[in-house]
Amino acid sequence: MSSKRQILVTNALPYANAALHLGHVLEYTQTDVWVRFQRMRGHECYYLSADDAHGTAIMLKADEKGISAEQHIADMRAIHEADFKDFLISVDNYHTTHSEENREFSELIYNRLNANGHIAKREITQAFDPEKNLFLADRYIKGTCPKCKAEDQYGDNCEACGATYSPIDLINPVSAISGATPIEKESTHYFFKLPEFTQFLQDWTRSGAVQDEVANKLGEWLDSGLQEWDISRDAPYFGFEIPDAPGKYFYVWLDAPIGYMASFKNLCDREGMDFDHYWKADSTTELYHFIGKDIVNFHALFWPAMLSSAEFRTPTKICVHGFVTVNGKKMSKSRGTFINARCYLDHLDPDYLRYYYASKLSGSVEDIDLNLEDFQQKVNSDLVGKVVNIASRCAKFIANGNDGVLSNNIDNPELWAQVSGAAETIAQHYENRDFSKAIREIMAQADAANEYIAAKEPWKLNKQEGMQQQVQDICSQGINMFRVLMTYLKPVVPAMTIAAEEFLNDTLSWESAEKPLLGHQLTPFKPLMIRIEKDKVDAMIEASKEETAQAVTKPLEGPLADDPISGEINFDEFAKVDLRVARIVSASHVEGADKLLQLILDLGGETRQVFSGIKSSYQPEDLEGRLTLMVANLAPRKMRFGMSEGMVLAAGDKKGIYLLEPDSGAQPGQRVS
Ligand code: MSP
Ligand code: ZN
Repeated sequence: MSSKRQILVTNALPYANAALHLGHVLEYTQTDVWVRFQRMRGHECYYLSADDAHGTAIMLKADEKGISAEQHIADMRAIHEADFKDFLISVDNYHTTHSEENREFSELIYNRLNANGHIAKREITQAFDPEKNLFLADRYIKGTCPKCKAEDQYGDNCEACGATYSPIDLINPVSAISGATPIEKESTHYFFKLPEFTQFLQDWTRSGAVQDEVANKLGEWLDSGLQEWDISRDAPYFGFEIPDAPGKYFYVWLDAPIGYMASFKNLCDREGMDFDHYWKADSTTELYHFIGKDIVNFHALFWPAMLSSAEFRTPTKICVHGFVTVNGKKMSKSRGTFINARCYLDHLDPDYLRYYYASKLSGSVEDIDLNLEDFQQKVNSDLVGKVVNIASRCAKFIANGNDGVLSNNIDNPELWAQVSGAAETIAQHYENRDFSKAIREIMAQADAANEYIAAKEPWKLNKQEGMQQQVQDICSQGINMFRVLMTYLKPVVPAMTIAAEEFLNDTLSWESAEKPLLGHQLTPFKPLMIRIEKDKVDAMIEASKEETAQAVTKPLEGPLADDPISGEINFDEFAKVDLRVARIVSASHVEGADKLLQLILDLGGETRQVFSGIKSSYQPEDLEGRLTLMVANLAPRKMRFGMSEGMVLAAGDKKGIYLLEPDSGAQPGQRVS
């Protein structure tokens, strides 16, 4: 093995405005497997992460919830950290970009760029929301497509006809935040002079720092000419104010990658390590960023250019992966395949998905399909059917025949040498992030081990006179091959490994594959992993669909009674809500939904169908004929079960749900105000 390397590894910092989903989990699994592998090889490897806490989206999200941005990001961070922990992602430090360390590094780097003449300043004209007093990024402007007249098109392109335009050219453009008509307004912005780094980036991107396919894409961008990068945003903005530029903030993507440094600094200060040793320009340590293909420009253009101007080291490698699709399609809320990390964890073990992702990951940027049938089948047949099977078949003979002590001999040294000898090939695959090849090799060795045991039939030999020693030697061979396979799998399936290590009475390091355990005491065998049952997968999909459906009936899940009253609105905003008295004509259960009832409502002539999350508190038959109140002008929403055309009003908390009812005499269709 080569000498001890010093390695820093990061994953892309999740935005603090949403929960993690199974796409994020792909990245964090890929990163974690690689990190665990490096540590097993005896290298020093620190894994750093953080929440990406700044920007307009996060500011608006906090507004919407009626809490401060600081409170919102603290809540999200706790949720993300729990997801990391429960998916067994072994980060050494989880920090936030809204930290003092990050402010200091952002200012330092900016000041150095500025001193080097790499910052420009000029006026630009932008859309502005006169009601919210906020500059509007393209995605916050919507209107009618100037070309095909499709309504409700966001930003600078039309989903219906594919036309691209400036958002200000939309017919009746409105701010997606307030509904106001945007005006054009000037403001001074700060730019990073990226074009000055063209030659540097030509060289850097061809130096092996990115995959070839990524280098080719970057080459196209470099050839077509780089633009200066707008790194400032106007107040109000949740972020860091730019030094000597009151009211101007660093754009979130300026300080986000600096968050990698900040997280490491935070760790260094806690553990007494030398930050500069890792980040100085001529550092001999290694730095790897794992990211998705959508954020390559930030990591492979802006980031190395900033680091080089600011006289820090540049990354050793940017490791880019593709996107997760589920059952061959983009993750979709209505199909229930937009699966949150937490929803998965509520139903299934993390090792299953870690294994499945590893079996699909290569060093390329191709998308990865999570086919749920294949997932169940592969995990069951590989991990349970092949790997655990070896141990479970052999363990009882050693327990019964020799008090759980392995033999002093193994039966087939050639086969042992083959299984043990795969270590370097497998290590190379891990190193290259070619996990699918590593898994294929490991499973080939597992097949060889199973064939050997099947051919030797120790269960038959055990019944014959004088064959006891051979049975012990065969089964000790089996357990030792199982131990080597678990060594190879340790980076991928940490929970299963802990169970295996307990049974083997041994801690596995990469060298464990070198020599068999002889005359070694095992502990009693317990099942190491249970099969994935289809109903668990189905339940997860159902729960995912319902999480989406819940959003339709959100107020019903609503604030607890002791929540503060949140978010002031003005009368005009309130008046937009068309509240009506409605009669529940019929109510019925919805097949496949735990929480929803289907209601048919009479609005005084007009009939509406609404799906409402009130099943836990009402029997359908008790609702029929009752009057209630509904939001009649809520945009209809397509659900798996059909259209939901409004929302009924109810009070509620964890204790129960209480449908609102007008006083007697009210008539269906009457407006509520
Ligand atoms: N906050 C930025 C990253 C800043 S890094 C200095 C961001 N956050 S994100 O939450 O949107 O995404 C985090 C990572 O998850 C990104 O690498 C992104 O590519 C990855 N993925 C998000 N959805 C994904 C899939 N569906 N599939 C695979 N990875 C995906 O971007
Ligand atoms: Zn159009």
